[in-house]
Amino acid sequence: MKLATLAKPGGLDKLGVTTGAEPGDPGPGEIRVRIYASSLNYHDYSVVTGRIPTEDGRIPMSDGAGVVEAVGPGVSDFQVGDHVVSTFFPQWLTGPAPIANFSTTPGDGVDGYARELVVAPESAFTLAPKGYSHAEAATLTTAGLTAWRALVVNGGLKAGDTVLTLGTGGVSIFALQFAKMMGANVISTSSSDEKLERLAGMGADHTINYKSTPEWGQRVLELTGGQGVEHVIEVGGPGTLPQSIDAVCIGGHISLIGVLTGRAGDVPTAKLMAKQARLEGLIVGSRAQQQDMVRAIEANDLHPVLDRSFPLEEIGEAFRHEEAGRHFGKICLEV
Ligand SMILES: NC(=O)c1ccc[n+]([C@@H]2O[C@H](COP(=O)([O-])OP(=O)(O)OC[C@H]3O[C@@H](n4cnc5c(N)ncnc54)[C@H](OP(=O)(O)O)[C@@H]3O)[C@@H](O)[C@H]2O)c1
Repeated sequence: MKLATLAKPGGLDKLGVTTGAEPGDPGPGEIRVRIYASSLNYHDYSVVTGRIPTEDGRIPMSDGAGVVEAVGPGVSDFQVGDHVVSTFFPQWLTGPAPIANFSTTPGDGVDGYARELVVAPESAFTLAPKGYSHAEAATLTTAGLTAWRALVVNGGLKAGDTVLTLGTGGVSIFALQFAKMMGANVISTSSSDEKLERLAGMGADHTINYKSTPEWGQRVLELTGGQGVEHVIEVGGPGTLPQSIDAVCIGGHISLIGVLTGRAGDVPTAKLMAKQARLEGLIVGSRAQQQDMVRAIEANDLHPVLDRSFPLEEIGEAFRHEEAGRHFGKICLEV
């Protein structure tokens, strides 16, 4: 079977496509899945560029979608022919998060989905939404579930709330879509006026260029009559958090999700305290949360925004496209 691997110490020129042995029959509780698509996340980018060190020869990509080809004894959730999507934490089925690292995450601590076939415990997958292409399904594992958990599970999003999204990456676009689906207002930022127009076309009620308006937190306050927003999808980290604290309402919720501006920095703690806001870190979500998200997606016929697809052979090009930052929504790989 065809697969992609990453040689140490990482770097886009260390990605290669090769052939490997096909996995055998699934054992008890396992399924064999033919993978047709994956999607790129900033986390995958960090792995393939070597910023997150991993084992020599690692198969990258945490997101995978495809079709169940065989089921082992005792498998209860799937039948042959089911369309499925992988989970970010194969061992986190339900309840509170049991893990604070990526040691079990496909494409990082264990081999991922840049390959044609995989045999895995059935808990490593859920059903994909009905009517989804494999590329659409492959956007849900990381970006989709992170936005869903931030807003709906942890945030308790209510119709009429206002959500602030930062930039136009995979997580932020999903957050915009889920927020509109749930009847919330959305304020979205981007570095590009062209992308801001696209955000408005998707239903963003207000847009702000964070480059030309560096004090965008104040602008959010103006747009909300001085109140601020109930939810912030904080994908930037230290470079954006002070503005997010300005933008959040008293008692609001900031989901600390990303590291786009770095991994540590100064936080105006007194302002956060005065806002009495909840600053909550999170990493993706559980399998049960993914199943809830799939149900909501089906009920609302929501489809992700796909930017561009690359064949597996062009995996390096796909990551260069992400690196250039010109994408809007999800970049996919056809396996
Ligand atoms: N904690 C978790 O569970 C989790 C899950 C998924 C992702 N993440 C993290 O969340 C972040 C985003 O991931 P992603 O996969 O959605 O990324 P992505 O698809 O690669 O998107 C990156 C986008 O972020 C925007 N951006 C860059 N710098 C920014 C800044 N200073 N302020 C506001 N926006 C900025 C840019 O949008 P414009 O071009 O519009 O400016 C860029 O296109 C990453 O740090 C990633 O590691 C965390």
